Amino acid sequence: MSVPARNHDSVTAAMVLPLLFELVEPGFPWVAGVPYEYLPSVPSTNAALKDVAARSRTGTALVTDDQTGGRGRLGRTWLSEPGQDLTFSVLLRPPLEPVRGHLLALATGVAVAEVLEERLGLRGQVALKWPNDVLLAGKKVCGILMEASVRGEGIEWAVAGVGVNVNGEPGRLRDSLPLERSAEWRGRPEPISLREHLGSAVTRAPLLAGLLARLTFRWSGLERENGVTALLEGWRSRDALAGRPVEVFAGADRSELVVTGEAAGVGPEGQLLVRAEGVPEAEDGLVEVFAGDVSVAASV
Ligand code: BTN
Repeated sequence: MSVPARNHDSVTAAMVLPLLFELVEPGFPWVAGVPYEYLPSVPSTNAALKDVAARSRTGTALVTDDQTGGRGRLGRTWLSEPGQDLTFSVLLRPPLEPVRGHLLALATGVAVAEVLEERLGLRGQVALKWPNDVLLAGKKVCGILMEASVRGEGIEWAVAGVGVNVNGEPGRLRDSLPLERSAEWRGRPEPISLREHLGSAVTRAPLLAGLLARLTFRWSGLERENGVTALLEGWRSRDALAGRPVEVFAGADRSELVVTGEAAGVGPEGQLLVRAEGVPEAEDGLVEVFAGDVSVAASV
């Protein structure tokens, strides 16, 4: 079902591209959002873009108003409201070794945080939870799903999926799920939308154009060491976990506890560092986490 956006709040190419072209500095070899494809409805922008990744240009964006089978990390569901939220994916070909792949998610999170802070006056209220949650006043306002094809020593392509809760009521959406699906939300931060936080609706086209421009800048920065350094600084200044007691789980159902300790920031490859007690193989007592789901623990 495709639902028309309220208040002419359209995210078609005609609305978004002119704004994007005003924002992107000249000189980038590719731009996130060029080419731009809008579908009124699609099961998942990530799945659809992955299907055509091999023959699509770097920067291709797929945007929808009604994502009917949105996917989250670890096989979970991503819920969004037709015509109210932002759901889009961008095709990347980053010159990164797979071990540095987390930097893509970190760059995405930093870009989203910067745009929310600058455009909506939310400085000091946005934080980043490793590896891919953007939090607003401690609640989840944006989720990021990175999917990649690795070939040999490199990343052949990556699809960056971004879901921003803009004008909907994500808590109500989650609470309306049947009981058997609500277990998926255990241990996850409460969702919140920009409208719920700000008390007024946000027009999506300028927000999306701002996001695509900043994503172009942050993703391109990964091609230079000073871009990586700036990115890690941007992450560390918004790190929601640093210094807090954490538990890291593996498995879609968080069935395996991997490590418990104090979060100690992120390493140069985008890995989470945890100061764990009683782990003899850990250098300086720091365990490097490259995959997993993190919860803040009551105490360590
Ligand atoms: C998470 O927090 O678990 C990640 C959520 C990612 C959601 C976005 S919405 C656009 C893109 N298409 C999908 O199916 N998922 C991502």
